[in-house]
Amino acid sequence: MTATHPGLPETGRAAADLLADLAALTAADLPTRGERVSAYVYDTGRPAVRQAAHEAYLAMLEVNGLDPTAFPSVVALERQVIGATATRLGGSDATPGIFTSGGTESIILAVKAARDARSDIAEPEIVVPITAHAAFHKAGTYLRVRVIAVPVDPTTFKADPEAMAAACTDATVLVVASAPSYAHGVIDPVERIAADAAARGIPCHVDACVGGYLLPWLAEAGADVPPFDLSVPGVTSLTADLHKYGYAPKGASVLLFRDEAMRRSAYFVCASWPGYPVVNSTVQSSKGAGPLAGAWATMQALGAEGYRELGRSTLSATRRLIAGVEAIDGLVVLGKPEAALVAMGADPASPLDLWALADESRSRGFFLQPQLSAAGLPASLHLTLTGASEQGIEEILAVLRASADAVRPLGPGTPPADLIALIHELDFSTLDDAGFAALLPMAGIEVGGESSGRMAGVNRLLDALPVEGRELIVNRFLSALYSPYLGQ
Ligand SMILES: Cc1ncc(COP(=O)(O)O)c(C=O)c1O
Repeated sequence: MTATHPGLPETGRAAADLLADLAALTAADLPTRGERVSAYVYDTGRPAVRQAAHEAYLAMLEVNGLDPTAFPSVVALERQVIGATATRLGGSDATPGIFTSGGTESIILAVKAARDARSDIAEPEIVVPITAHAAFHKAGTYLRVRVIAVPVDPTTFKADPEAMAAACTDATVLVVASAPSYAHGVIDPVERIAADAAARGIPCHVDACVGGYLLPWLAEAGADVPPFDLSVPGVTSLTADLHKYGYAPKGASVLLFRDEAMRRSAYFVCASWPGYPVVNSTVQSSKGAGPLAGAWATMQALGAEGYRELGRSTLSATRRLIAGVEAIDGLVVLGKPEAALVAMGADPASPLDLWALADESRSRGFFLQPQLSAAGLPASLHLTLTGASEQGIEEILAVLRASADAVRPLGPGTPPADLIALIHELDFSTLDDAGFAALLPMAGIEVGGESSGRMAGVNRLLDALPVEGRELIVNRFLSALYSPYLGQ
């Protein structure tokens, strides 16, 4: 689907016309409400909360967070949001923090703070479990910090504290634990990891991007949640995303620090150019205050009671989903999910083709997120459940059962040997985006159009390739996608 008016029009157009274009363009997107998408979106199911967030977002849209002395409203809102977050996560009103655009930006800043706090180390390293979010690898790439990814327990999918401690060297500037990990929804042994790090004088970051606004409420609803926040000795920083289980509009995350010196290390300052002195808390410089206001309004509109109720229904939905999946022949739940993220794997005794299952499920109106095998851990399909999931659980399970029945006769699925051989023969250094785009239909990949939701072939191929091969292909694919060579 293309916009009806591509490019810059000679004369301006009416808002209604523009909104009609947007409606047409988004018609092909996955739905952002209605609990038919197992990732990306977080829904309270409460229209009044959403409306409060939208209106607050719009009210602050044009305020620029670049200069908090020019726009003190930004400081006031940010302090409220950070204080409210910290007091639920083992800190207090006085805990230093930064409001950022998302989990990745928070993580990049946490790594920068740790790196810059140890400017005496020439080649800094961070130690992360292999299950840590890719954002740590991104931070490592952007900041030139080496990432040491340590294997996890292959049964529980949790970080192995002994292996983490053994991976630390004199160059380690940060040790990381997840609460929970995204892929399997399990909580790393934060107390042990943080204590071992502290014993060596190394800071410890807890990635609670998912868990920060979820685990406290799950605990109140009766879930067994081990200590994971700033109350744990040795934890020096923590990330919690408002645009996940804080249910805020996208562009909202919080980074908390145990001490203020570490927060100052995260800042960027520059007074060596002839313009205004730059002092930024975030990667972004100019930034609209809409996401901050939207996050603040969501927290205020929900209140502790709202989050408590969403936590209760999220826990109930997760338990029902896990029980239902475990009863489906050919599927298993990987590890023991401790939050509301569930990874469904193929049962080694009677495996199903997960990628075909995802396509079947999508054709029945329910999107499952594929997760490739990596570092010896099996492939899986991901489900993130939210406070609005509970009423749709029976429907999801019915879709999963029907999809499993449809793909069971196909067996486990085999890697596409021809395609893999073709990829090995290709000289990528001479292949431009047009050439790459032209190859995709031959590989059975269609972008846009009827069968574009059918991704089993692509997932099967990616899963069979080594990491470098996967990364090369998806890099080329993204560039081709944004080129004029692929039909949309
Ligand atoms: C545990 C964890 N950390 C970090 C991130 C990155 O967050 P974002 O996508 O907001 O940048 C995610 C995203 O799913 C996550 O699950």
